[in-house]
Amino acid sequence: MCGIVAYVGKRKASNILIKGLKRLEYRGYDSAGIALINNDINVYKCQGRVSDLESILTEEDIHGFVGMGHTRWATHGEPTDINAHPHESMNGDFIIIHNGIIENYSKLKIGLENEGYSFKSETDTEVLANLIEYVFLSHINDDIPFSAEEAVRQALLMVEGAYGLVVIAKSEKDKLIAARKGSPLVIGIGKEEYFIASDATPIIEYTNSVIYLNDGDIAIITKNSLNLTNLKNVSQKPDIKTIDLKLDEIEKGGFEHYMLKEIYEQPKAIKDTCRGRLSFEAKALKLGGLHDVFEELKSAKRILIIACGTSWHAGLVGEYLLEEFTRIPTEVEYASEFRYRNPVINKGDIVIAISQSGETADTLAAIQLAKSAGALVLGVCNVVGSSIPRETVAGVYTHAGPEIGVASTKAFTAQVTVLTMMAMAIGYANKGLTKKEYEDLIDELYLIPEKIEKILEKADFVEKIADLIKDANNALYLGRGYLFPVALEGALKLKEISYIHAEGYPAAEMKHGPIALIDDKMPVIVLATKDHSYDKIVSNIQEVKARKGLIIAVVTEGDTTIKNMADYVIEVPHSDFALAPLLTVIPLQLLSYYTAVKRGCNVDQPRNLAKSVTVE
Ligand code: M6R
Repeated sequence: MCGIVAYVGKRKASNILIKGLKRLEYRGYDSAGIALINNDINVYKCQGRVSDLESILTEEDIHGFVGMGHTRWATHGEPTDINAHPHESMNGDFIIIHNGIIENYSKLKIGLENEGYSFKSETDTEVLANLIEYVFLSHINDDIPFSAEEAVRQALLMVEGAYGLVVIAKSEKDKLIAARKGSPLVIGIGKEEYFIASDATPIIEYTNSVIYLNDGDIAIITKNSLNLTNLKNVSQKPDIKTIDLKLDEIEKGGFEHYMLKEIYEQPKAIKDTCRGRLSFEAKALKLGGLHDVFEELKSAKRILIIACGTSWHAGLVGEYLLEEFTRIPTEVEYASEFRYRNPVINKGDIVIAISQSGETADTLAAIQLAKSAGALVLGVCNVVGSSIPRETVAGVYTHAGPEIGVASTKAFTAQVTVLTMMAMAIGYANKGLTKKEYEDLIDELYLIPEKIEKILEKADFVEKIADLIKDANNALYLGRGYLFPVALEGALKLKEISYIHAEGYPAAEMKHGPIALIDDKMPVIVLATKDHSYDKIVSNIQEVKARKGLIIAVVTEGDTTIKNMADYVIEVPHSDFALAPLLTVIPLQLLSYYTAVKRGCNVDQPRNLAKSVTVE
């Protein structure tokens, strides 16, 4: 949440900052601002989008080769011009951009007020700006000169909470001071120039050489130098990585929205996720990232999956897959609940953390808790080099490519693909699956991208169905077994981008309450592909029909029984029922996309949301 970008070097900073903020806008988009260093420090900021910020800049404003920018997702204080970042300290000695939350900000604020400080904004960030300045000014008469970076370091020692931040001091305007604890920061290394950003997307246009800051790192950067230390001022060795991210991967590529592009990218994302791991010819499956922990996985007594949002839904599919293929008891937990509810974690437990961004604050905290209790923690993440893969001992990357639309689509199917492969590999190794079952699943998984292509060809038909639900106030999604998590995911997709209230339920639970909601205005989306509970779901459809609900059913190709009952059916190709989530979720993603577009909603940046939830 919140995007940060900063630059020092030989190019005009304003161009890099504005372009960078546009790339980071998916992290927060309620206000934006930049500070440009020329002879003075000039700050421009406003409520609204980066394009609004751009419109208040004039040619005279945009000079300077040093600067920083921020796009905000409000935590403390409403989205207003004043609360937008950057924030200046009271006497103008320091300027700061910040992602995260300073938890003890009220206490610090009272202390500063007692020292004569006043505040313009409601933010925790301004408190930090003033704290740094206060520390700096307290040492102004020291015999040994006291540097701006030392003021930052000492102030940060007083801070509780999370931060990824960049500071510029009026006294050292050619220098960026960056620090990280809990909120991601990456430094791009160019020739006589450096970039800092919340993720690599603003940087890749200029360099693929990067350093991911670790918690507690402080980087002091000028055009020609980078000095990495920690909070105790101990020098740290920079770990320079080469990133493999192409510019076209983060552009819309002719699609109207990132979300639509990402829906269409799913066949490729699944192929990329299976590449080098699944061999159709050799009927083999190898997950290199789990090699060192595979024996422990095979003999695990219990598996715990922790995640949030869509990743949690993928985790629920994972629970069903792991229990079915491996017979290892598996539980899936919301990371936010797990971390605060004193869960039982046994020494031999294996914990799998799932996250697209690899930065979700609750998931990271749950990982820490599981680690401290002695569990082996593995990661399933999409963003290479993000915090979760670095916090976990082993894991499997999804290779979905950058997901920019706030509504997660291709990350979900890539996560389910990884969890399917994990369950298959463990199941075959611990004899939960026979050779025949294992090989059949390999064949089935191999065919999934092709089957998704076929579903995507029906997008026009799904768009027509969206016309029927675009004016609804509520929608119900029903599924059983593997399709229950898909029902939850379908409902989440609809509510987050179209703002229609939607609920996902196990179909049989309908009779225990939600059936009371059904009338002729209630669209009921039923996931009803052929599996062992098909007859049961057919009965559920009858029950909805008897109450005049509008039935939209996702069925297996050629199904005539449900076609005769439902108002609309969307056909998907036949597959093993354990793999059906990978197919049935596609029409639901399209349905929510088209519904949101028809309602005039901002699909890629829905209100109040941010892509990467780096605050709890
Ligand atoms: O990056 P993560 O997978 O950890 O994110 C978890 C959720 O915030 C995320 O899936 C969220 O629910 C999406 N907006 C859903 O589309």
